[in-house]
Amino acid sequence: MADLVIENLEVHFSGVVALDGVSLNVREGEVFSLVGPNGSGKTTLFNCISGFVTPLGGTIDYGDLDLLSKPPHSIIATGISRTFQNLQNIPYMTVLDNVLLGNHSRIGNRETVRRWISRRQRELEEERALEVLDFIGLANYEQKYLSGQPYCIQKLVEITRALVSQPKLILIDEPAAGMNDQETMEIAKIIGEIRDYLGITVLVVEHDMSLVMAVSDRVCVFDSGNVITIGEPAEVKAHPEVISAFLGESVVA
Ligand SMILES: Nc1ncnc2c1ncn2[C@@H]1O[C@H](COP(=O)(O)OP(=O)(O)O)[C@@H](O)[C@H]1O
Ligand SMILES: [Mg+2]
Repeated sequence: MADLVIENLEVHFSGVVALDGVSLNVREGEVFSLVGPNGSGKTTLFNCISGFVTPLGGTIDYGDLDLLSKPPHSIIATGISRTFQNLQNIPYMTVLDNVLLGNHSRIGNRETVRRWISRRQRELEEERALEVLDFIGLANYEQKYLSGQPYCIQKLVEITRALVSQPKLILIDEPAAGMNDQETMEIAKIIGEIRDYLGITVLVVEHDMSLVMAVSDRVCVFDSGNVITIGEPAEVKAHPEVISAFLGESVVA
């Protein structure tokens, strides 16, 4: 059993307090959503968990592991993978090759070279990538080049790449940004399926409250680097400070 336990996390960027003593737990097997205004520190929290930002203070433990003592590639090896707020795809490669990159983020350079010359290994990785593409609903896209594909497809490719390393915890940053209502609900369904069928814990940053309310087990509201409240969707929706300050009555209606 591995919960993600964050305590008193403090991040400053040249005078800007991005995280001001954040504490929260993500329980194994849940969809945990982070919401809050732009600039409130959500992506910074992801960057700390995945090792891209080193906090000034605080702790991040995943099960027995102290994540702050590990570099990013070792964090992926513990079973944590992520997507980025801005797409990190390579447009001139096929969907399948973009997804296969997810395997190679797990291993060091020398091993990467050895893997490239192991045909059997490549076949196994392709089989797994195709399975995950099928799961996500992109089975017909594997040989298509990513450039020119709709934004929704590109975002799903990024999620697929994060899944192919077989994580236990996935961090998804703003999956529904730029999507229409139908695409947003499709993403919500996929996030639920990642939890229910793959058994992966999901930590998601998202502005779209219809997605957050539909799929979250718990929701955490951030403002200015602080946790305002954490609770089940209905509790958070009813929280007076949340309604007045962040969500707006029309958004949560
Ligand atoms: N690498 C960075 N360098 C300087 N300031 C940063 C950096 N990353 C984030 N910030 C600042 O930290 C604050 C939190 O940003 P961020 O975590 O991206 O917020 P959110 O994802 O909630 O929109 C903002 O004021 C942002 O400008
Ligand atoms: Mg962000």
